[in-house]
Amino acid sequence: MPEVSAIYPGSFDPITNGHVDIIQRGLRVFDRIVIAVLKNPKKSPLFTTKERVSMIQEIFAREKKVEVRAFDGLLVDFARASKTPVVIRGLRAISDFEYEFQMALMNRNLAPDIETFFMMPNVNYTFLSSNMVREVATLGGSVEGLVPELVVRRLNDKVKRSKKVQNP
Ligand code: PNS
Repeated sequence: MPEVSAIYPGSFDPITNGHVDIIQRGLRVFDRIVIAVLKNPKKSPLFTTKERVSMIQEIFAREKKVEVRAFDGLLVDFARASKTPVVIRGLRAISDFEYEFQMALMNRNLAPDIETFFMMPNVNYTFLSSNMVREVATLGGSVEGLVPELVVRRLNDKVKRSKKVQNP
């Protein structure tokens, strides 16, 4: 059987346990997953591209089927260049559907040879988003259990450092 690779794109600012859950589910279906970290999300990111890539690399350090790369430009161009004919996207709730539907069809319009696969995370993570994690962490709330331990530590470091800059 030929190997099938998939790309899992996102801003990952930061990666959450919902993302990790989707990647683990994807690994049961695909032979290789390329986690594609968008270099410049519209909203200015809390973590730099390098920081986001390196956190995900550390989390999946023992998983040989996972590769982490940064990308910019069109996702379909990156998917073709990295020989991944499938795009994985997580669907948490109906509210995700409209945006995801538009994006999948735009990508299909641009590249009919690339297919989007939707996967649902564990129900425990359906309320979870990177935006909320950032907001809660920067306002001093706990994000334990919502993001990998390493991300909890990096978020705490970021918050401490930004407080020092504001109140030296
Ligand atoms: O985690 P996000 O922010 O929901 O991920 C969005 C992402 C990175 C998948 C999307 O913004 C993207 O693919 N950007 C690359 C530009 C592109 O290809 N645009 C055309 C499809 S809408």
